[in-house]
Amino acid sequence: MKDFYSGTRIIAGRGAVKELKNLGIKRLFLVTDPFFAENGVAQQIATAAQAQAAEIFQDVQPDPSVTLAAEGTARVKAFEPDGIVALGGGSAMDCAKAMAYFSGSKAKLIAIPTTSGSGSEVTDFAILTHEQVKHPLVDARLRPEVAILDDELLQKLPPSLIADAGFDVLAHALEAYVAKNAGAITDALARDAFCSAFAALPASFAGNTAVRLKVHVAATMAGMAFTQAGLGLCHAMAHSLGGMFHVPHGRLNAILLPAVVSCNAHRAGEKYAVLARSAGLGGSADTVAVRNLKNCLVRLRTELKLPGTLAQAGVDPRQVWYGMDKIVEATLADPCCNTNPIAVEGFMVRQVLEEVMGRV
Ligand SMILES: NC(=O)c1ccc[n+]([C@@H]2O[C@H](COP(=O)([O-])OP(=O)(O)OC[C@H]3O[C@@H](n4cnc5c(N)ncnc54)[C@H](O)[C@@H]3O)[C@@H](O)[C@H]2O)c1
Ligand SMILES: [Fe+2]
Repeated sequence: MKDFYSGTRIIAGRGAVKELKNLGIKRLFLVTDPFFAENGVAQQIATAAQAQAAEIFQDVQPDPSVTLAAEGTARVKAFEPDGIVALGGGSAMDCAKAMAYFSGSKAKLIAIPTTSGSGSEVTDFAILTHEQVKHPLVDARLRPEVAILDDELLQKLPPSLIADAGFDVLAHALEAYVAKNAGAITDALARDAFCSAFAALPASFAGNTAVRLKVHVAATMAGMAFTQAGLGLCHAMAHSLGGMFHVPHGRLNAILLPAVVSCNAHRAGEKYAVLARSAGLGGSADTVAVRNLKNCLVRLRTELKLPGTLAQAGVDPRQVWYGMDKIVEATLADPCCNTNPIAVEGFMVRQVLEEVMGRV
């Protein structure tokens, strides 16, 4: 049995943030990071909502900690908002979602993503870090009520952020497509998101701002797919490595994804082949199509100037060897393993790590 539900209203297009004023918010609590506080965008958004009172929490850091979410939770409880707006990438959105959840606030939760990556604006996930371990919280109450996709906020995206977040979208779509809970509806969303992001990322990276909304919508579609279908080994490992080494989440996915495709191919090969053909990567025999998929991911990674190994991303391979048991343990404990197309075992994690570790 499949059960598909997406309770998030999605408002998309140039200037979509203007819709905030029509959401009836009287007491607005806006959660963002120092970048948007310092460049004035947070204040502009707060003003655009036309609330009677507004408070801005601007201390979000990448890979937000449990402690930070607890601080914000106390501020939400004290302010008693009727609207919580998350402005930023996955980190700001996850932090705001956790604050809303832990405070028990009944405020309307509105997500305004400024990166095209996490899909957090439509997912049941919030990822918090505690003692070097990333913990995915999963609960339907974490899903925002409204997502506003405005490409005006993406005009000045730095290329490295387009690349990192872009590979997060590809990883969400690809993993959701072969995940254990995938069904016809999540397949359609995941396949379209993968093809759309795969085709538009090089142009977006090269500075073409006209395609940014396309990648932005693809990120949201991939989010809708994976929140129902689940993810897999790539994300479980990205969480364990991200907690330990603080490499950006999407960059870790770029390093891991081709190796995970090889690892899962004997079970998921047929669907990987459909995805490859849908993206125009050819291959009459499934094995050829899967090889093309892996090779094209590697080529795109190079084109987007992303590292191919953990060593190239600045992680000393010796640290990976020393931390191997901890990485394996954290990966196996991650809920994303539960929906990988093959039951994840320790040797698979070690095999992928050896492929992506690189040299000193
Ligand atoms: N909840 C989910 O469903 C989900 C899914 C995937 C990833 N995540 C989490 O999301 C986080 C990663 O999110 P992310 O990749 O969006 O990055 P991020 O939110 O960590 O932001 C990275 C940096 O980019 C800057 N930034 C954001 N938007 C910008 C813009 N428009 N222009 C210039 N700079 C900008 C931020 O200020 C920040 O310094 C990770 O913690 C990951 O675990 C959550
Ligand atoms: Fe992700």
